Amino acid sequence: MPQTLTDGLRLLRAFVDNPRQVGAVLPTSRTAVRAMLDLADVPSADLVVELGAGTGVATREILARLGDDARLVAVEIDPQLARRLTERLADPRLQVVCDSAEDLGSHLGGERADVVVSMLPFTSLEAGLRRRLLDQLPRALRPGGTALVIQYSPLVLGELRRRFAGVRTRVTPWNVPPAVLFACTGPTEG
Ligand SMILES: C[S@@+](CC[C@H](N)C(=O)[O-])C[C@H]1O[C@@H](n2cnc3c(N)ncnc32)[C@H](O)[C@@H]1O
Repeated sequence: MPQTLTDGLRLLRAFVDNPRQVGAVLPTSRTAVRAMLDLADVPSADLVVELGAGTGVATREILARLGDDARLVAVEIDPQLARRLTERLADPRLQVVCDSAEDLGSHLGGERADVVVSMLPFTSLEAGLRRRLLDQLPRALRPGGTALVIQYSPLVLGELRRRFAGVRTRVTPWNVPPAVLFACTGPTEG
C-alpha cells in the first residue's frame, strides 16, 4: 500500500480513538508543511523541536532541511503513531519522544530550540490544556528563535500575540482544509 494511504489510515484510526486530541482526519499536505517551514531558518538550526508529529509529514521535511550535526526532537502523545515514527524514520539526528508536549521541558534538559514546529490541534483541545501547550512555545525557544504553528483556522492568533512580540500569518490553500500558518518571534514570557 502506498505510504500516503497507510499514513492517512493511521491518522484516521487515531482520530476515531481520540478526535479532540488528533483534531484532523487527513494528514497535512507536504506543500503546506513546506510553506510553513519556509517561514523559519531550519537549515541553520542546531536544535528543532516538533510538537504533535503525527504521521511524520513535517518530521521528514524538517530532517531533509536540517544540517548534519543538528538535532530534531519530535514529540507525539499517541503511542502507536510515535512507535511508527521511530520505526520508519531511522535517522541519528531524530529523537522521538512519546509524551505530552506539556512535559517538553523535561525532555530538553535545559536546552532551547532555534525552531519549534507545532502541528498540535489547538482549537479542538480543552481550553486549559491548550493554554499549557501554547505556553511551551515561548519557553522552548532560544532568543532569536522562531515558533511555527499550523492550524485550520485563525482562532489561535490572539493567544499567540499574547505570547510573542511578532506573529506573521500566511494562508495556504494547498491543504484540505486550507491551512493557516503562523511564524512567531520574540517571546514575551517564558
Ligand atoms: C492534527 S494532528 C497532526 C498530524 C500531522 N499533521 C500529520 O499530518 O500527520 C495532531 C497531532 O498532535 C498529537 N497531539 C495531540 N495532543 C498532543 C500533546 N499534548 N502532546 C503531543 N502530541 C499531541 C496528536 O496525537 C496528533 O498526532
